[in-house]
Amino acid sequence: MQRDQWGNRASFILAAVGSAAGLGNAWRFPYIVFKNGGGAFLIPYFVALITAGIPLIIMEFSLGQKHQQGAPGSLAKIKDKFEFFGWWPVISAFVIVSYYAGVMGWAWNYVADAFTGAWIGANTQDYFYNNVLKISSGPSELGGFSFSVLVGVVLTWILIYFILRNGTESVGKVVWFTVLSPIVLLLILIFRSVTLPGAIAGINYYLQPDFSVLTNFRVWIDAYSQVFFTLSLGMGIMIAYASYMPEDSDIINNALITVFANSGVSFMSGFAIFGTLGYMAQNQGVPIDEVATAGVGLAFVTYPNAINMLPGGPIVVGFFGIVFFVTLLTLGIDSAFSLVESNVAGFSDKFNWEKRKITLTVISLLFIAGLVFSTKAGLYWLDIVDHYINNYGLIVGGILETIAVGWYYKPDKLRNYFNPISEYKFGSWWNIMIKFVVPIVLIFLLIRNLIADINTPYGGYSMGPQWIGGWGMIIGVGVVSYFLSQTTSTKLDANDISDKNIGGE
Ligand code: PHE
Repeated sequence: MQRDQWGNRASFILAAVGSAAGLGNAWRFPYIVFKNGGGAFLIPYFVALITAGIPLIIMEFSLGQKHQQGAPGSLAKIKDKFEFFGWWPVISAFVIVSYYAGVMGWAWNYVADAFTGAWIGANTQDYFYNNVLKISSGPSELGGFSFSVLVGVVLTWILIYFILRNGTESVGKVVWFTVLSPIVLLLILIFRSVTLPGAIAGINYYLQPDFSVLTNFRVWIDAYSQVFFTLSLGMGIMIAYASYMPEDSDIINNALITVFANSGVSFMSGFAIFGTLGYMAQNQGVPIDEVATAGVGLAFVTYPNAINMLPGGPIVVGFFGIVFFVTLLTLGIDSAFSLVESNVAGFSDKFNWEKRKITLTVISLLFIAGLVFSTKAGLYWLDIVDHYINNYGLIVGGILETIAVGWYYKPDKLRNYFNPISEYKFGSWWNIMIKFVVPIVLIFLLIRNLIADINTPYGGYSMGPQWIGGWGMIIGVGVVSYFLSQTTSTKLDANDISDKNIGGE
């Protein structure tokens, strides 16, 4: 059967941007910039983009586009034994999206309740923990489901299924909406916030450069981790997406557009977030660092609280509340389905099942695996799993990939593939990044994370949850990936075999 293809190049680029631009751009990037020297952070950020983000995304695009396979198949074409290196990112993606859907489930509640007014003018902390999550006392007390979360999660999965089920070409149409609408919505939030008293001070805090941080090692680490995470690297996504492109499409251009569009969304989010936080700080007469946070607390407690302070009454507040949470949903949905697609590509390359059936199966498994995140202890488990999968799953995925390409396959083989088909060409500095810089940075991050987590168990949770949702989950990713890599493909046709012998010359 003919491989699924994007309808056109723009759809592919939008899908890649859609995957990259997610919750991390909105709730992580602004805070990381603020915390790490404001405008001065742009230096480590761009250095990390150029030395790691761009080389790696080009590598992932090339792997997929050249081999016309998702991550496991692409890596297996380099060497049979490397199939495991391709399943690891795919299974890590599975874990991430199992809880990413939970976060989207919360956001649906805020959208719906902007109409009922449940959090409008109310205490958003109380609303989030007690009304939405109905939070239990700790990870070991599941306490049954929070139905409001469960409903949101079910809605998210249904949506993802309908987006993916008709294949790549129809996904290519959906991304026009899911990528462009958060940009428009962010513009609305920026315009609203910049005219508020205190907004400019907030933005100043966000960007005011403090160059002294450049000598601080941690700032550089933050820059590299943000770049890996924000570009959705090491998850098999960019490989899968590129495998639906014709083999001769321009790689460097596509990669640069994706990277800079994603950074654009990050910067815009920074203005929207810090403009509003600046207003809130002034309103409450507190310093900005007291209100500046990242992650779940920022998106579900602090920001809606700031929206509650907007002048104009409940209708205006409700309107901006909906704008903000629909921004999160549209930012998140295309990151979520890209994670699913990484799985669908991996499985449908290997097993002789109809793609639609695989999509449905993967989504059903994800729904079941993710049920724990809809329980009253969901937030705790999400916090633990998120920490471990980002610190180990994603990083190990990147290490395995760069070792396979940089040390076994030899980077020049890929460079000789992407340069001739690209308008801009990359010199041999790219090889150095793939062979040395990226794996060294990643191995360094891995060791640092290991030391930190062994010394102080994450988040103050006890050892049981730490083992189940953390180390056990990571070992599980390894076991499942290994098992899948050892299973015989039901799809090996003559074509694949001859490709393998050529080894991608
Ligand atoms: N890149 C997305 C973000 O910044 C998150 C993500 C990571 C999505 C890994 C998919 C895979 O929010």
